[in-house]
Amino acid sequence: MKTFSYLKFIVHIIISFLPLGISKPSNIYLDLTHVDSGRGFTKLELLQRMTFRTNARTTALVSKTVKPTNPLSTPIHPGNGDVPYDREYLVSFSIGTPPQSVMLTLDTGSDLIWTQCVPCIQCFEQGLPFYNPSNSSTFAYLSCLSDLCTSLSMAACHQQCFYLYEYGDGSATLGSVSTETFTFGSKSKVAVPDISFGCGFLNGGVFVSNESGILGLGRGPISLITQLGFGAFSYCFTSLFGSKSSPLVLGPATNFYNNSIKSTPLILNPTSPSFYYLNLTGITVGKSLLHIPPSSFALHDNGTGGVVIDSGTAITVLNDEAYKLVRKAFVHQVNLSIANESITYLDLCFTLPKSSGKVEVPKFVFHFENVDLELPRENYIYEDRSSQELCLVMISSGDTSTIIGNYQQQNMHILYDIQNEKISFIPAQCDKL
Ligand SMILES: *[C@@H]1O[C@H](CO)[C@@H](O)[C@H](O)[C@H]1NC(C)=O
Ligand SMILES: *[C@@H]1O[C@H](CO)[C@@H](O)[C@H](O)[C@H]1NC(C)=O
Ligand SMILES: *[C@@H]1O[C@H](CO)[C@@H](O)[C@H](O)[C@H]1NC(C)=O
Ligand SMILES: *[C@@H]1O[C@H](CO)[C@@H](O)[C@H](O)[C@H]1NC(C)=O
Ligand SMILES: *[C@@H]1O[C@H](CO)[C@@H](O)[C@H](O)[C@H]1NC(C)=O
Ligand SMILES: *[C@@H]1O[C@H](CO)[C@@H](O)[C@H](O)[C@H]1NC(C)=O
Ligand SMILES: *[C@@H]1O[C@H](CO)[C@@H](O)[C@H](O)[C@H]1NC(C)=O
Repeated sequence: MKTFSYLKFIVHIIISFLPLGISKPSNIYLDLTHVDSGRGFTKLELLQRMTFRTNARTTALVSKTVKPTNPLSTPIHPGNGDVPYDREYLVSFSIGTPPQSVMLTLDTGSDLIWTQCVPCIQCFEQGLPFYNPSNSSTFAYLSCLSDLCTSLSMAACHQQCFYLYEYGDGSATLGSVSTETFTFGSKSKVAVPDISFGCGFLNGGVFVSNESGILGLGRGPISLITQLGFGAFSYCFTSLFGSKSSPLVLGPATNFYNNSIKSTPLILNPTSPSFYYLNLTGITVGKSLLHIPPSSFALHDNGTGGVVIDSGTAITVLNDEAYKLVRKAFVHQVNLSIANESITYLDLCFTLPKSSGKVEVPKFVFHFENVDLELPRENYIYEDRSSQELCLVMISSGDTSTIIGNYQQQNMHILYDIQNEKISFIPAQCDKL
């Protein structure tokens, strides 16, 4: 069965690429745009928005009882307009024949691909026209008997396969499971037929970046990466304060590197099988390996705890036990006085001296199984001369869970080798990749 659908996929690829003059693709390149890119925010506002989103996402994702250590007690409105609760990057491509543009938010923490679809019963506002299946010659509803329909836990069958998909932040989409031709790439186009996706006609929640839906890149059977059968993808986030787009590569990035790259194993959490869990064994701040008990990062049998790497969490949240020790180490090792309260909404900030010299900060290393990842200074420190603040860009989850966020992933090419269940981190200048 598996072999058959794989062969069918290859045949489809070959056929569909003939008219476009492309032979077998080994991977597909896409551009990611940060949700706040090009919207005129200052560096401080960008950071405030990231902190705000991280607090909101963590509160929603981790558990309903989480209280972030840095509760945003006073109502804040960083920048202007609403702040989306999660999902930091947008990706554009087309669906259908002729192609209709969609702009979806990237989510490595979920599997379904969906876009808003007419006729809408309830759709939120989006920048692009709604996808209209009746204008596409390649649209098809998916049979209720299909594996994908049955694998969607909320699927219901009334001649078509209907789905209901909910997210941690309360957003949800309801619609028909369908198949379409997806056309990727801005320069060289790559068309892939028969991708299953959600044609969502009743959608609600927090969608304020002009997106038209969500692109699931999780580990489950219905995610884009699983459907493409590539077994790997990678991204490389440019500076969160810059305006350049970041590359997303679907498929292996083996043409970039040779076999000598180090990797750390992926761990599966049966309770949340979409997420990419890592084996974090310790943290070094400055010269000292912190005395964090190994159990602190453990993934428990009941699905709690553990360490997730995520594309949709802006700032790393450490479990409360580890965060307290990291905080203590910074307080101990940074030779500055602690700022009483910070306009960044971060938990730990120091007051910078008026003199302009560069302040020493301790190094920061994540020790993953097989891989020690020393972060560049700009991946964990925020410095603002005008407000005279230097801050640690990490917060506590308030419980036992840990999420590695985007701030800590800047200018690193992160390779997700799903097939071999491992991840690699390669320092890179992402706009030059
Ligand atoms: C798509 O179809 C709708 C009616 O279903 C029609 O009003 C619209 O003009 C069509 N758009 C295109 C680009 O063909
Ligand atoms: C949404 O799109 C409109 C029109 O393209 C644009 O004016 C607006 O700035 C966009 N909003 C966001 C949040 O990107
Ligand atoms: C891998 O690449 C690095 C840098 O490009 C090079 O120094 C090294 O010799 C290569 N190793 C192998 C096994 O090819
Ligand atoms: C899950 O398991 C851990 C470790 O055994 C335990 O400390 C925690 O209370 C459990 N949580 C729930 C919600 O059962
Ligand atoms: C810490 O700062 C004070 C005052 O700025 C300075 O006198 C002292 O030498 C510094 N200590 C270290 C270890 O850098
Ligand atoms: C911190 O702020 C509080 C209230 O704003 C004030 O009473 C206290 O003196 C401040 N402490 C320092 C060290 O600045
Ligand atoms: C994590 O890595 C440590 C050190 O290599 C190892 O002892 C431990 O068994 C690993 N844990 C899991 C869940 O793989």
